[in-house]
Amino acid sequence: MNQIFILILLSLSSSWALDNGLALTPPMGWLSWQRYRCTIDCVNHPQECISENLITRQANLMKTEGYLDAGYNYIGIDDCWSELKRDENQTLVPSKERFPRGMKYVADFVQERGFKFGLYGDFGLRTCEGYPGSLLHMEVDANTFADWGVDYVKVDGCHVLVSLMDEGYPKFGEYFNKTGRPMMYSCSWPFYLSLAGIEPNWDSIIKHCNIWRNHFDVQDSWSSVESIINYFGDNSKRLATYAGPGHWNDPDMLVIGNFGLSYDQSKVQMAVWSILAAPLLMSNDLGNIKPELKELLLNQDVIAIDQDSLGRAGYRPLKKSQISAWKREITPVISNHTSLAIAFVNHNDNGAPRFGNFTFEEMEIDTSERFNGYDIQDLLPSSTQKYTVYQSDGRYRFEILVNPTGVLLLRLTARESL
Ligand code: GLA
Repeated sequence: MNQIFILILLSLSSSWALDNGLALTPPMGWLSWQRYRCTIDCVNHPQECISENLITRQANLMKTEGYLDAGYNYIGIDDCWSELKRDENQTLVPSKERFPRGMKYVADFVQERGFKFGLYGDFGLRTCEGYPGSLLHMEVDANTFADWGVDYVKVDGCHVLVSLMDEGYPKFGEYFNKTGRPMMYSCSWPFYLSLAGIEPNWDSIIKHCNIWRNHFDVQDSWSSVESIINYFGDNSKRLATYAGPGHWNDPDMLVIGNFGLSYDQSKVQMAVWSILAAPLLMSNDLGNIKPELKELLLNQDVIAIDQDSLGRAGYRPLKKSQISAWKREITPVISNHTSLAIAFVNHNDNGAPRFGNFTFEEMEIDTSERFNGYDIQDLLPSSTQKYTVYQSDGRYRFEILVNPTGVLLLRLTARESL
């Protein structure tokens, strides 16, 4: 089938907007990809393979270990869940070996425990791992997902020309919408366009997707997490303007609890993701997680920053001497008085905690005439870190000490005006 024919198919679209009332705050949950990849050999890897057993096990843990109560309410299966071929009606078929009772069973299982169910698809001819994609079957796939009770679709963009995406992603979303079942729509569309050197059409992305991937896949390493942080930092003022209730940038999954990040680095991911108003989608084994990392993932103060109802994503006002400084405006405690979340990330890994000095001006923090200071709370305290706020040369300043590849996360609440 040639490209022009597909373009005509895709463009038979009315103008519509995704208005599904979902993701009013960034979604939270669990997704299989980063930790479990495309493990399909259940004989040799029974605990690791993408299967009914994996998903139901993690669902039970999310409930019993307090993750659901903390807000992590989506459970999603990423790539590699289907058979390699559609059936005779062109319908997608879940792997018969790994999902012997089908997808509806898994959806029911997680929903009965209070979760919402997520499933992966691909807008192209095949998924990134070579399973059937939706390009020529969008309507049937949208209906199949709805029949199974899917609440969240992640639509990847492998094996398709990027020139088809501006029409295709809205079209696929329209089919999902038409099913009548609200499904949170996660698009990889802007990432693939950026990769091809094309500036994404942000108006359309914001209008048609609930969340979207901006950058490369996260890996289980500090270098990967830091490169995503740097990308968001370098582009953060612009990216922050795209985010808001119902539509969020997605820097990719939380890898906290796996093998690659130290405790400090795990705190960095949690803190920066929260400043960015990012989806908090863990990809880890909740049956095998260190207590301090579990506590971090469940930290209500940090989650509250991420989920703040103002829905204003934060940004990086500056980076100097290898410390990046981040700021997010959050719901005021006293009306008309600013509340902020501030993070300082030390990118230097030479062993010693690092001092930094940042003026409020540099941080773009208001100190207008009626300013009466802030009450400050350290949300992720560490015995080797500290902060002070003082005034010199008529300027307010933070003096901070931050662990190597660590973070200081502060909440500032403006005091009643003078
Ligand atoms: C792409 C996506 C990942 C994951 C894999 C699955 O790389 O960006 O998040 O979904 O495909 O194959």
